[in-house]
Amino acid sequence: MRIFSGMQPSGDLHLGNYLGALRQWVASQNPDAFYCVVDLHALTLPIEPATLARQRTELFATFLASGLDPEVSTIFFQSDVAYHAQLNWLLECVASFGELGRMTAFKEKAERGEGYRVGLFTYPVLMAGDILLYETEEVPVGDDQRQHLELCRDLAQRFNHRYGETFRVPRAVVPPVAARVMDLQEPTRKMSKSLSSPLGSIFIVDPPEAIARKVARAVTDTDGEVRPDWEHKPGLTNLLEIFASFEGSSVEAVAERYTRYGDLKRDLSELVVSSLAPIRERYAELLAAPEHLADLAARGAAAASEVAGPVYERAARAMGLG
Ligand code: TYM
Repeated sequence: MRIFSGMQPSGDLHLGNYLGALRQWVASQNPDAFYCVVDLHALTLPIEPATLARQRTELFATFLASGLDPEVSTIFFQSDVAYHAQLNWLLECVASFGELGRMTAFKEKAERGEGYRVGLFTYPVLMAGDILLYETEEVPVGDDQRQHLELCRDLAQRFNHRYGETFRVPRAVVPPVAARVMDLQEPTRKMSKSLSSPLGSIFIVDPPEAIARKVARAVTDTDGEVRPDWEHKPGLTNLLEIFASFEGSSVEAVAERYTRYGDLKRDLSELVVSSLAPIRERYAELLAAPEHLADLAARGAAAASEVAGPVYERAARAMGLG
């Protein structure tokens, strides 16, 4: 199965990234799968060069620490494969201004300040190119990327219609639970790298004490009944989803076993700590050997280029270039 997905190196990975995306990637990896540190995307918001340089390496290490295996699938940096930026331009000349203006992720981020970068606006086109370059069938992502995937499909179909059959039309694959992990302090808002309150996000590399504190302080409600209900009990339901996702069960199955919030939180905290501990250890080991990471990334980029090159050439020729 041809799979592609990507993640931005814009900060530490949180439980949403892990449960919504990375864990699905690990489960679905195969010789035909491509997982990408989309470092070009991280330039759409202000970021110090030194910070980006550090974070992209850390994200690559987190991929491996979580179980992505470079012997099985292709793991690489977006900026190492120039076809991403090249196809982006071709697709910008297929996308319309109006459809990009409807992207909710853009509207949310643009609301935060005047003078946002043009790249923030055109970013979904770069993302569409990422996916289309690999003749992708499935894109495992969290719920917040659905709209971007729809745009990607629209662009692929429009291109094929206008210039002849060129791209495979991909589909999003969203996990059954934890597709939208919410902020622990404000459970009506999704857990996010950039917007969360200090206690709102659990990061993969958080030490056990921090995880325990964040779970214990997570906002719930006063009704005292353990049952899933997104409308009236978003905080508790979020905890049930996180629990079910780590455990590989359903929210109902978890809820049935508990009558007290305190017991649920205590067990959840233990489950999260024990699930993340091995990742945190491997992460530290991997970061201690940066040359090894660089070597793996170079091999990944070479393998990715072999697939992306011919697809890019085909698209360019279809438009009358080359
Ligand atoms: P990014 O880097 O914001 O997030 C990476 C992945 O994590 C998922 N995710 C969540 N899932 C559940 N709950 C949450 N609170 C949560 N927050 C984030 C995202 O859905 C995503 O799957 N545009 C993408 C990066 C990208 C990409 C691509 C993805 C660029 N090119 C090509 C797939 C294919 C993004 O900003 O994800």
